Amino acid sequence: MKLVAPSILAANFNKLGDQIEMLNQSEADFIHCDVMDGVFVPNISFGLPIISAVKTISQKPLDVHLMIVNPEKYLAEFHKAGAEIITVHYEACIHLHRTIQQIKALGIKASVCLNPHTPVLLLEDIIAELDMVLLMSVNPGFGGQVFIENTYKKVSALKELIIKHNSNALIEVDGGVNFEVGKNLYEAGADILVAGSFVFGAANPTETIAMLKKL
Ligand code: DX5
Ligand code: ZN
Repeated sequence: MKLVAPSILAANFNKLGDQIEMLNQSEADFIHCDVMDGVFVPNISFGLPIISAVKTISQKPLDVHLMIVNPEKYLAEFHKAGAEIITVHYEACIHLHRTIQQIKALGIKASVCLNPHTPVLLLEDIIAELDMVLLMSVNPGFGGQVFIENTYKKVSALKELIIKHNSNALIEVDGGVNFEVGKNLYEAGADILVAGSFVFGAANPTETIAMLKKL
């Protein structure tokens, strides 16, 4: 699958409505929303009120990436705000299996994110339960960072794990994506590319999204 999820972390927040409208008119498959709490990651972004506002005008499903501690406390609220996919970090969940079941009980897609240092094999006993795995290809917290090359290896390993366990999980990759990186990621087995600064910093974001889907 070749899907694209632009990250609004890189959008112009003075014109957020216009930017969502642009994404509605584009070939984007999801809108990726990066929630940061200043504890799990060294940055604070936005939370529930912004996601609710985006939801009122978005025609695309919201892919909500929670970079927060204790994400289990806020699942119902992010669902109410409009999340169609909720991603929690492996590193932030003591009872990951329970948290995944709680997301699924809300009737939405459940996804786990791995930081660059976290091995794919740690998902062996939960991969069959997951709708998606998000691999961080930069250290989470900021847009505009350089892609970590080791991620290609992780995508291939994850693909093998998914096949081995008959899982339906899609592979999403987040951080430092551009045309060259995106092409390599699709070849390695990625299904969904998150792109922030590469889309919103482009002269023609709509065309950039279309081109990312055709790599
Ligand atoms: C980083 C976020 C990413 C970020 C990607 O913590 O999870 O989604 O917005 O930004 P770029 O595409 O600029 O690396
Ligand atoms: Zn993200």
